[in-house]
Amino acid sequence: MNRRASKIFRRVPAPPGPTRLVDMAEGLEHTGNLDRVIGALQGAVRRALPKGPVKDALHGVPFGHPAHPPLTDLPMGCWISATALDLLPGTARASQALIAAGLAGAVPTALTGLADWSELHREQQRVGLVHAAGTATATLLYAASLVARLQGRDRAGRALGLTGLTALMAGGFLGGHLAFRQAAGASHADQVSHLVPLGWHDLCEAAELPDGWPVQRRLGYITLFVLRVGDEVHVLADRCSHLAGPLHQGRIVTDDEGDPCVVCPWHGSTFRVDDGSVVHGPATARQPAFESRVLDNGMLQVRPIT
Ligand code: FES
Repeated sequence: MNRRASKIFRRVPAPPGPTRLVDMAEGLEHTGNLDRVIGALQGAVRRALPKGPVKDALHGVPFGHPAHPPLTDLPMGCWISATALDLLPGTARASQALIAAGLAGAVPTALTGLADWSELHREQQRVGLVHAAGTATATLLYAASLVARLQGRDRAGRALGLTGLTALMAGGFLGGHLAFRQAAGASHADQVSHLVPLGWHDLCEAAELPDGWPVQRRLGYITLFVLRVGDEVHVLADRCSHLAGPLHQGRIVTDDEGDPCVVCPWHGSTFRVDDGSVVHGPATARQPAFESRVLDNGMLQVRPIT
């Protein structure tokens, strides 16, 4: 800092630098070495899990929440507990039961993870692939551990379990980076309620809106998706709740009841335009919606639906 700036601004202590683990995870985001594998795997997952009710369920659309994160608790909880029990005498059968339960839970956990992974940005997929490799390695090691225990090779079984725990922790760390640093699975539209005050706000002249064609309009800090259909005007937050794609560039379709919906141009999430509810994933969070009205002077006003 130069001398003039140091006189004006108060000096604050520098924060501790990022740990090496975080450096490695961030480096992984920008490593293109895995991209050919990722492209091939993504194509295979999309062919095996085409868009539809099954994939929507794997994303967690019926629950309004991603299905993968809570499911990871099952294998992780079981296997961590089994390794802890290995430290105590007389717990061999309990450890075996926990490892078997974790292996059963690993199947839906992997399927939900693959479904979500296939609809992410490339930087997220790079981290996600290594996260999956870590947890798959842990699964194989715990499976080998169970086999060894059932064959009476208890010491080998405990050693394999401990090694599996190490792989599980490494994979789990990258899963945390994916969820909390790269915001995969978080709603990217949730901040709207903090950026728009309650009450009615002028938006634009209603007469300038094309019929049946979505446009983007700005309201303070946020952008809005605006669709006029005849006399009705539908308004949603423009940044898709999945990964912030621009909904005003999406296709307009109708759902099974004939209600108009918008399909996000990035990964195909489909939202009803009248209330922002999710029709198809990968998005699981409702798109924030706004009420609208047209004043006598032709001004379109909107207010958040709370
Ligand atoms: S950003 Fe992914 S579906 Fe909209």
